[in-house]
Amino acid sequence: MCGIVGITSNKQVTSSIINSLRKLEYRGYDSAGIATLNDGFINEVKCEGRVDTLEKNLSKIKIEGTIGIGHVRWATHGSPSTVNAHPHSSEKVSVVHNGIIENSTILKKYLIKKGHKFKSQTDTEVIVHLITEYLKKNDLKKTILKVLKKLHGSFALGIIFKEQPDLIVGARRGSPLAVGYGPNENYLGSDSYALKSMTNKISYLNDGDFCIVKKDQVEFFDNKGNKVNKKILKLSSNEQDYDKGDYKHFMAKEIEEQPTTIKNCVNEYINKMSGDINIFNFPWKSNEISSIVLIGCGTAYHSCLMAKYWFEQLTNLDVGVDIASEFRYRKNRFKKDALYIFVSQSGETADTFAALDLCNKNNMKTCSVVNVVESSIARESKFVLPIHCGPEVGVASTKAFLGQMLVLYILCLKFAQMRKEIKKNVYMEKIKSLFLLSKLAKKSLETDSKIQSVCSSFTDIKGSMFLGRGYSFPIALEGALKLKELSYVHAEGYPAGEMKHGPLALIEDGLPVVVLAPRDEYYKKTISNMQEVIARGAKVLLITNKSKDEVHSENIWEKIEVENTSEDLLPFLLTIPLQKLAYYSAFKKGYDIDKPRNLAKSVTVE
Ligand code: M6R
Repeated sequence: MCGIVGITSNKQVTSSIINSLRKLEYRGYDSAGIATLNDGFINEVKCEGRVDTLEKNLSKIKIEGTIGIGHVRWATHGSPSTVNAHPHSSEKVSVVHNGIIENSTILKKYLIKKGHKFKSQTDTEVIVHLITEYLKKNDLKKTILKVLKKLHGSFALGIIFKEQPDLIVGARRGSPLAVGYGPNENYLGSDSYALKSMTNKISYLNDGDFCIVKKDQVEFFDNKGNKVNKKILKLSSNEQDYDKGDYKHFMAKEIEEQPTTIKNCVNEYINKMSGDINIFNFPWKSNEISSIVLIGCGTAYHSCLMAKYWFEQLTNLDVGVDIASEFRYRKNRFKKDALYIFVSQSGETADTFAALDLCNKNNMKTCSVVNVVESSIARESKFVLPIHCGPEVGVASTKAFLGQMLVLYILCLKFAQMRKEIKKNVYMEKIKSLFLLSKLAKKSLETDSKIQSVCSSFTDIKGSMFLGRGYSFPIALEGALKLKELSYVHAEGYPAGEMKHGPLALIEDGLPVVVLAPRDEYYKKTISNMQEVIARGAKVLLITNKSKDEVHSENIWEKIEVENTSEDLLPFLLTIPLQKLAYYSAFKKGYDIDKPRNLAKSVTVE
């Protein structure tokens, strides 16, 4: 995680760096810092906490310069503190880093022997001293090549040099890095979003590349030092999507946007007149694929799990689901006839990217479902399916989850149709339901007042459970994840039928349990499981869909009903009250909803 920025210009750069750091705060927000070069000196200001604090400090300690680097940190090595905040500097160089240097302990020993003195507990500081050491006998380019070779692990770097006051070096391995082009100035940033207010012209470094950025020229090199040419991409401007408008939090806005994002995505992928799914230029024939492996992390993993149920229901494909951090290190038996699908909102998640890279290196068929279409995962996969939901800023994923599920559902329908495993009328029914989904999702938003009245029961608690079967099980996992990441209370998602194999021991008087029991094929079974927890004292919040039939159960604490749709689309409607439950619980506690503690939006370290 962490965000880095660098600017070289003919104007003062401090305030532009601060603006970019604000945009990068979604990547880390436990400390921040800036370094500029002025009159042959490196000036540094750093602090624990947010960019606001950094800006306050800068109003007292003024630093000037037309070249500088900045950083927002998500701590890996060393606690969040001023001394561990980046940039890290020697007399000669200053460095900002996103990633982890895995061999930092060995390198540190070597550098201490050479007489280097360390100030922080970070892995990053070894890069500073290594550069300083190698610069004694090598020119800049040779130094960079030698240093990059020595480093194990992942990094995106921004480096300024006392003796080269006209340039910034950028380098990447594993972590993302972009270069932006402006009038009489050029930029380096962890992503295009950080640079968007300054330019819409961007190039991306490939893994292993480094670059030398001057205010009027940028040169790119591969890991052997050979010059490489880069395409300059023009980004569309959608600044307003990054604005909270009248909402208190981005998360609130993103939850409310879901009916619109569903509508946009459905319209993007499906021809309303013919019902055809517009997935063009798919590089493989359907008979070349007999299995599917879905890979992601966190919420994206939950959408993969959801898709397994759909693919198994509607197609005869073999379906596997994997957590990226497990997949990448397991002894996988790669299958030529498998399609590997990588799901990621940011498209920068380190583990998902590594899993994709592994599949690409093994010559597999790779496809990604992403929100950020300029991301590393999108660029490296052989086919991309965007979710079309616009920027998601809140750390807790909401509209992207629905978007990922929607695209995976549509892909599943497409496969079922291509493989002739679905009857025409069933297919058309499902397409029709998809076009109605947005309106029904809007109704799910109306659960607001009920959720607000129950959420205090989810704040000061020992723990809570979220139960579901079949299609509702991945949603139970997602509901629990949302509550724990925002409210900092223990929440566990469980298959309702598994309770008696252990977790039932946790149920005691007053323990809040959310039961997802839509009236689908699992309904009766789930209701029985619900009875079992009620009998042991649980306070059950039942989430189901509307029906003329009463739920045959006594002692349900509260009930929320969503609209009716086909069984396989109900997960979309059940998700929304759970997002709201997490939102209002955190709101009640006064927590930082868009930036929950210890987390970051884009997880670019493994
Ligand atoms: O950007 P990605 O979709 O790859 O991110 C994966 C997870 O880090 C992410 O979904 C995380 O679990 C969210 N904070 C959950 O709300």
